[in-house]
Amino acid sequence: MTTLKNTLCIISLFLMTFFLSTCKKEKDKSLYLSHIDEFLYLDKTQPTEVRVADLLKRLTLAEKIGQMTQVARDYLVSESDISDYYLGSLLSGGGSGPSVNLASNWATMIDGYQQTALAHRIPLIYGIDALHGNNNVYGAVIFPHNIGMGCTRNMQLIESAARATSEEMLATGIPWTFAPCVAVARNIHWGRTYESYSENPELVSQCGAAAVKGLQQDNIGNPTSVIACAKHFFGDGGTTNGVNEGNTELTESQLRAIHLPGYISAIQAGVATVMVSYSSWNGTKMHANKYLITDLLKGELGFKGFVVSDWDGIKKINTDYTLSIEQAINAGVDMAMVTDSYKFYISTLTDLVNKGKVPMSRIDDAVSRILKVKFDKGLFETPYSSSSLSSSFGGSAHREIARECVRQSIVLLKNESSELPLSKNTPKIKICGKMASNLGAQCGGWTITWQGNHGNITNGTTILQAIKDKVSSSTTIQYDTLGNSAQQADVAVIVVGEKPYAETGGDSLSLSLSAEDAFIINNVSKTGIPIVLVVISGRPLIITEIIPNCSAVVAAWLPGTEGSGVADVLFGDYNPTGKLSRIWPRDLSQVDKCNDNVVDPLFNYGFGLKY
Ligand code: GLC
Repeated sequence: MTTLKNTLCIISLFLMTFFLSTCKKEKDKSLYLSHIDEFLYLDKTQPTEVRVADLLKRLTLAEKIGQMTQVARDYLVSESDISDYYLGSLLSGGGSGPSVNLASNWATMIDGYQQTALAHRIPLIYGIDALHGNNNVYGAVIFPHNIGMGCTRNMQLIESAARATSEEMLATGIPWTFAPCVAVARNIHWGRTYESYSENPELVSQCGAAAVKGLQQDNIGNPTSVIACAKHFFGDGGTTNGVNEGNTELTESQLRAIHLPGYISAIQAGVATVMVSYSSWNGTKMHANKYLITDLLKGELGFKGFVVSDWDGIKKINTDYTLSIEQAINAGVDMAMVTDSYKFYISTLTDLVNKGKVPMSRIDDAVSRILKVKFDKGLFETPYSSSSLSSSFGGSAHREIARECVRQSIVLLKNESSELPLSKNTPKIKICGKMASNLGAQCGGWTITWQGNHGNITNGTTILQAIKDKVSSSTTIQYDTLGNSAQQADVAVIVVGEKPYAETGGDSLSLSLSAEDAFIINNVSKTGIPIVLVVISGRPLIITEIIPNCSAVVAAWLPGTEGSGVADVLFGDYNPTGKLSRIWPRDLSQVDKCNDNVVDPLFNYGFGLKY
């Protein structure tokens, strides 16, 4: 009996073990199958939409809302918040970078953030305002601001400049720029006039598309492509009196005709992100405008990328931040650019979803759009910087492209008795004006710091140095900022213009030259020697009374680091081809006028002399 019992026991034990092992295998198999399923979003051979759908269904609400959050790096309470809150993105605001501003330190900093982010399963995407080169980074090549690029009318050149910018961005580990600005600036009181290619919608749309192509190429997944961002959607350049973040008062058909073409062409060029404008349309904040963001941009225009807010743009909708978050996300904002309120934004949006005030379908749409861009960019495969492009950073090839941009952006406004081009053998040339030896001023805002700065802010060539490099050894160059004792010179080159500024810091009512600049011109004109006036500015200035004292006048806008391009034009190594991308007003009464509604400006849209 015992033997039988033992035998039965052994048999049952065997059967049990077999059964259990089979179950385990089955369990393992089902686990493995689900793992294969898990790997689907990591399988780069899968179509993006399959990867997005697979990953989306695995995400918690916390992960989803984290992806919809972009935090300015300065405001991170702790770097571990990147993974604790599943942050989808970080950004550098103007001038926010590593303590020692070197390209290699930028890449190390951003790779560090990425490493923290990859503690969970989604890589972050780092954004920056690389508007005219990778302009926050010391040593980057700084290109002319958009107002000058618009005067080139050269779309291939704009594309080349953008391409060089993308390479200098990737050399520092940055895959996303908040550019191009496709604002159509209609009033030059606006402090962001220089970020606008033109007053003309068609020219803006051509330039914007060229910039998107240069930045993204035909595929944002290319190793030398970055993600572009058309901004600021929309009507930012049409506010009453040119007040920054103000109110654009137009009918819908006017708004569409003037301010939409830049987005239509950017979308056709494949732009992957769009940034919403701080401004309002007929009193409604753009950040809360569902008709324009969702119905128009995403619906009618078919924009498939994602929409990012401007810097705390949601908080600016109204005083009730909770209501603002509900309005902005329901309006179609997909990612919130936030500063110190990121934890409040995350908890509030979570609460709004749990209360049904923001439908999960909206969250899923936003996250799907964000994931689509991240998958298309290849961030899941290559989340870190690559040193392969660092050799091009700040190098001569990019500087040559920037110098060509300077040459072609310069507009010759006056050239009495062919004063220009100057001879390289002119015996004595007087150079006047602080702007002549002020690299920061010729770069303008959004350079190294947000507002920009005077002086030697980075590597580059001032106009003074460029002239010294240009002339023959027999020429004497005398630099005197105030233009004293100019009478012994054969000609005076006076460089005047605006101090660096950005955004509201640049809103200006007067638009006249500084008292010092006017004094210099007056001081030199008393000597009777011919004056060549070079204007360094982010917009046309009121120079009507000044011009009669000058033999020649040149608009050089904000040329950036390659001042040699200015000397190329002054001394005839380049015959100027630049054409005004906006009218040049005769007086303040014409400041809010454009080609389509101005009478007798000082210089017309498209004006530009040649030698
Ligand atoms: C700024 C600007 C926007 C920029 C953003 C991030 O306020 O409006 O153009 O991209 O913040 O710096």
